[in-house]
Amino acid sequence: MIELDSVTKRFERLTAVERVSLQIQSGEVLGLLGENGAGKTTLMRMMATILTPTEGEIVINGFSVRHQQVEVRRQIGILFGGEIGLYNRLTARENIAYFGQLYGIAPDRLARRIEELSEMLEMQDYLDRRVGGFSRGMKQKVAIARVLVHDPQIVLLDEPTTGLDVGAASIFRALIRQMKAAGKTILFSSHHMGEIEKLCDRVAIMHCGRLCYEGTLPRLRAMYGFTDLDELFLQVLEKEGER
Ligand SMILES: Nc1ncnc2c1ncn2[C@@H]1O[C@H](COP(=O)(O)OP(=O)(O)O)[C@@H](O)[C@H]1O
Ligand SMILES: [Mg+2]
Repeated sequence: MIELDSVTKRFERLTAVERVSLQIQSGEVLGLLGENGAGKTTLMRMMATILTPTEGEIVINGFSVRHQQVEVRRQIGILFGGEIGLYNRLTARENIAYFGQLYGIAPDRLARRIEELSEMLEMQDYLDRRVGGFSRGMKQKVAIARVLVHDPQIVLLDEPTTGLDVGAASIFRALIRQMKAAGKTILFSSHHMGEIEKLCDRVAIMHCGRLCYEGTLPRLRAMYGFTDLDELFLQVLEKEGER
């Protein structure tokens, strides 16, 4: 479970995230929507203890991001869509194993976990090839496997489908459904409504650092009377702009 209580992040004079309060339960997939610069990445970085909130508190499965960073990091797997950061000279298996070792996973358990992830993500054909020659989609799958190697209870995915082809995106969706069924807490950011609609129980929309909507998609549709999600998204932003 993720609990955000009035979280604010300022970078000098810029307020990137302003008094955001939100809860995400286990077994829930929450879609975090917002245009570029809305504050999504900053919010996720704070959850992962990469940044410290200026004000407010974030509690991850009972652990505070301010006071229990080591415990928080064990609970969390975070994937940034834009930065893959794999070692090109290592194979896919070696890249995943390297991260598993950082988490102190025993070698036999790690080997089994890599097989499992490789099967789930359909990477068997290239697991033992060097990552350097991979397509962006293949690299992204390795990056996803790496994030999940310690079987985190909380999974933060920051624009994860960037660079995935249609086939890989569908495998990825199946993986998210599987994690949801296993009771994980999943936060998925995107600037595409369509992507969110396929996976999420609930959405949160950010605009200029503030949370301007939080609830189910059917309720959002009922409030704005739109069925086209992109149109609806624009309406929410416009309404927020008038305030
Ligand atoms: N490290 C930083 N220093 C200064 N400003 C930042 C930093 N990180 C993000 N910002 C600013 O904070 C705002 C929110 O950015 P970000 O969280 O990356 O938004 P999103 O992920 O929704 O596109 C933007 O105006 C961005 O320029
Ligand atoms: Mg971002």
